[in-house]
Amino acid sequence: MAKKKFGFVSVMLAGTLALTACGGADSDSSSGEEGSGETYVLQAGHSLPDDHPYHLGFLEMAEAVEERTDGQVTIEVFANSEIGAERELTEGMGLGTVDLVVSSTAPVTNFVPELGVLDVPFLFQDRESAVEILEGDIGDELFAKMEENGIIGLSWGENGYRHITNAIRPIETPEDLEGLKIRTQENEIHLAAFEALGAQPTPMAWTEAITALQQGVVDAQENPAIVADQFSLYDANQKYMSLTGHVYSVAIYMMSQQTYDELPEELRDIVMEEGQKAGARERDLIVEMEEESIQTLKDNGVEIIEDIDTAPFQEAVQPVYETIEHQDLLNEILDAQ
Ligand code: PAF
Repeated sequence: MAKKKFGFVSVMLAGTLALTACGGADSDSSSGEEGSGETYVLQAGHSLPDDHPYHLGFLEMAEAVEERTDGQVTIEVFANSEIGAERELTEGMGLGTVDLVVSSTAPVTNFVPELGVLDVPFLFQDRESAVEILEGDIGDELFAKMEENGIIGLSWGENGYRHITNAIRPIETPEDLEGLKIRTQENEIHLAAFEALGAQPTPMAWTEAITALQQGVVDAQENPAIVADQFSLYDANQKYMSLTGHVYSVAIYMMSQQTYDELPEELRDIVMEEGQKAGARERDLIVEMEEESIQTLKDNGVEIIEDIDTAPFQEAVQPVYETIEHQDLLNEILDAQ
């Protein structure tokens, strides 16, 4: 149950609550009646820097919500896992300790197993097919599954195409991955895929990954170019980036069901409407920024391996397709392209 604060809510107090991971639709009055003029402070969290599209998408949403509710709803956005890493944030929505989250799907799968299909490597033919599927019936079906788990799906965004960076050698074929210690997301499908490719995967939260790369606990990681750029992975021993694009990493803007239930209908509708716009705007920003990030990585000495033949990678991960629990959903997505 999200906490309500009575009396005057200060931004500082709300911030303190966020830092202790106690969010919720905090209101300044116990009346709970629509139109009573009470105000709500929603806390939004994610794991990336404040110039990443995840954050910019939330900022635009916050501005529109504040304007349309005449300041009755304020959204505070916390970057860099400040109020939790992706898995904790997702859990927090179920517990009602955080109101809004944008996260890549991989950790959310631990709470909504059906989402696992989206992390199957080489699932989508291209970005356009992915968006069409996610914004169609299949995406709606997945949002319905999330709702059964106390999470409202607002809109589909993207983290981007995942590529492999590493400290040891240029990766051009699956054989080059043999024995490479690679950090993966906390997701069984990613783990199985990298095992199938011959690497030695270690799942961990992103908050632990940079130190693990710096200290040589792992040699490699896989993430979109914007993440590699914004976290200066060239300073964490990453000398090579292979544009494998093995997973189109979907992201989701989400709201806690408890927050939804606590907001008066009029205000909730506005938050929902603006949240529904956030994903598409965020995706456009990712596309705009991706090339620039690749250039920045090059400028900082990262060797970019561009023309990868992905066929042998696709072949190597085929056995993972058979292990997917929700085969019907997987086939629905494959057949839709
Ligand atoms: O690798 C991850 O954990 C995710 O891709 C990240 C960087 C947190 C963005 O969603």
